[in-house]
Amino acid sequence: MTNGTQARDTRHETAGKKDGKVVIFDTTLRDGEQSPGISLDAAEKLEIAEQLARLGVDYIEAGFPVASEGDFEAVQAIARAVDGPVIAALSRTHLSDVDRCFEALRDAERQRIHVFISTSPSHMEHMLKMTPDQVLNEVRQGVGRAREHTADVEFSPQDATRTPLDFMIEVLAAAVESGATTLNVPDTVGFGIPWEFGDLIAYVRRQVPGDYVISTHCHDDLGLAVANSLSGVRNGARQVEVCVNGIGERAGNAALEEVVMALEVRRDQFLDLRTGVRTEELARTSRLVSRLTGYQVQRNKAVVGRNAFAHESGIHQHGVLAERSTYEIIDAATVGQVGSEIVLGKHSGRHAFSETLEKLGIVLRGEALDAAFRRFKELADRKVQLTDADLEAIVAEEVGTGVEEGFALDVLEVHGGTSSTPRARVVVSRDGRTSEASAEGDGMIDAACSAIRKATGIDASLTDFNVSSVTGGIDALGDVVVQLSSGGVKVSGRGLSTDVVEASARAYLAAANRIVRAKAAATKRSEVGP
Ligand code: KIV
Ligand code: ZN
Repeated sequence: MTNGTQARDTRHETAGKKDGKVVIFDTTLRDGEQSPGISLDAAEKLEIAEQLARLGVDYIEAGFPVASEGDFEAVQAIARAVDGPVIAALSRTHLSDVDRCFEALRDAERQRIHVFISTSPSHMEHMLKMTPDQVLNEVRQGVGRAREHTADVEFSPQDATRTPLDFMIEVLAAAVESGATTLNVPDTVGFGIPWEFGDLIAYVRRQVPGDYVISTHCHDDLGLAVANSLSGVRNGARQVEVCVNGIGERAGNAALEEVVMALEVRRDQFLDLRTGVRTEELARTSRLVSRLTGYQVQRNKAVVGRNAFAHESGIHQHGVLAERSTYEIIDAATVGQVGSEIVLGKHSGRHAFSETLEKLGIVLRGEALDAAFRRFKELADRKVQLTDADLEAIVAEEVGTGVEEGFALDVLEVHGGTSSTPRARVVVSRDGRTSEASAEGDGMIDAACSAIRKATGIDASLTDFNVSSVTGGIDALGDVVVQLSSGGVKVSGRGLSTDVVEASARAYLAAANRIVRAKAAATKRSEVGP
């Protein structure tokens, strides 16, 4: 932050019009999707948005409509289909951007336009090439136009924490005068320190007149995004912008699950404020986002990590068995971290399959249900019994694959061992046409991926490979996530199988299909970005 905010303890002052509640503004589908290697298609975004609605977030920032046709369509699909949360979308201050943003949101039950422009000297000089006066005009123009479309308008001065205080206050005041109802304070580069960021929020509240909600938007470059957001709340912010699993640009955004559980567990420190989040949905939301983005959740991640409720040392185990609260401040069940149950087997029919999915909160219809059911049958034939976690993984693997035409894996044969060169043969098909190829490799996975490269003609290099199991046990489903890079495009793909080589081949093919889609979309994408 640039210069001294007059420190004052404002923690127990009442704040704006959202007293008693902290609004959860989820930006997983906008800022989260800006993480390197993440590229979600419309079906995947919709799936995440539906789950965010079940989770009970107040706002879903669904995308940045002017960035590409794909973004526009995804925002529009979410605005049309998702009930509950207000659907928001990001816009620059240009009038045509704001109009396009509203166009995407038009069919939502309730919508918000989120207008932003950079205000730090460095951004104004090097990126915008605008003077402070020009930026002020842009703010008035963009926010004013957004307000003509909707009564719910948020404004963000990008790089706020490196913006001179006087100018930031002037800009925020102009935004309120032009109709903004939420003022967001982005720590765009993760530069803030908790007490300093809290002072900044308190300062905005004191200096900017009007009726508005203050919001935090903290990045995690110093690992302080959650702490900074909470400090903002202590100082009067009543909206927090967060991403599931803390994904987002560079080191990510404040993690939704951590902010929510800190507010829940330490309500005594936050004026008894509440969020509307159904915490039992946190673990499932985290798994879904991880599966669809290809971003693994670290084992020791707070709240949603696999080990968040595991006790290793004998003393801890003994304590928890005697009384859970000895070493646990959260009951695992309150965040949905409960053991997987065996739910279906190879004799289960389509009806039982779709009913079980519905109980898990997953609603699939038509071709999507057929595709997921086919995969379920294939896997159940091999694994005998599938748990709810397995079913979630199957759905995540299938979501979106039927939406755009891509290659399907028809046959995979591999040969290898300690004394022979690993070899693979694949048959893939697309639009009713098949193509076959064989290849050798360093190992069977390498051979399978090389054969797929030859059969599809999609050239890409493997930049990351990760294998884990969906549940425990010798017959657990292997869950492989790969990242591929090709001509500047980075994507991830996921594959599931009882056999790790097959899971890898599926993941590789899913990613290769995405490369084709991402390149097609990139040719339509204009050069804009927050
Ligand atoms: O980090 C940032 O500044 C943003 C804005 C667009 C809110 O994401
Ligand atoms: Zn951001």
